[in-house]
Amino acid sequence: MRIYVLFVLTVCYLNIGKGYVMQKECHQNCKCAIRRSKKRQAVCRGRDLHYIPQFPEMILSVIMSGTNLTNIDKNGFKNLTYIRLKELTLDNNLITFIHEDAFINLKYLDSLSIVQETNLAVNVIKVSVGKMKNKKSPIFIF
Ligand SMILES: *[C@@H]1O[C@H](CO)[C@@H](O)[C@H](O)[C@H]1NC(C)=O
Ligand SMILES: *[C@@H]1O[C@H](CO)[C@@H](O)[C@H](O)[C@H]1NC(C)=O
Repeated sequence: MRIYVLFVLTVCYLNIGKGYVMQKECHQNCKCAIRRSKKRQAVCRGRDLHYIPQFPEMILSVIMSGTNLTNIDKNGFKNLTYIRLKELTLDNNLITFIHEDAFINLKYLDSLSIVQETNLAVNVIKVSVGKMKNKKSPIFIF
């Protein structure tokens, strides 16, 4: 029993162990990993995914790519408020709307990229981004 506990602790202190723990807490459509740049990033894909899931608390950067996210209502980013999210990329999802208050509680966000969201009107983005609390200006790439 004691040997088992020691083994678990040892594994947990290795990066490989950390990655394993992170992936276990990660949604099946997502890959949660520490990148070579030490970036703790989650990448979620798949048209069968229609919401933003919860992430391990170590994750700082989230990429939603090619999902079936359509309408982001007031609480649509709620699961991102449980982590210290610094970077968010929305790429080639099917987003048509983002509620003007959706970004308000993403307190740590300092980089936002919206790419290939062809059904999303620029005005809608402008309004919701205008309400972001963060003073640093976010980055947009279309
Ligand atoms: C995306 O979601 C909509 C409704 O939520 C559904 O009708 C559609 O089939 C989904 N698309 C795919 C490719 O799964
Ligand atoms: C938050 O994540 C859970 C499970 O990961 C999911 O069931 C729920 O719909 C998500 N909430 C929102 C607001 O997207």
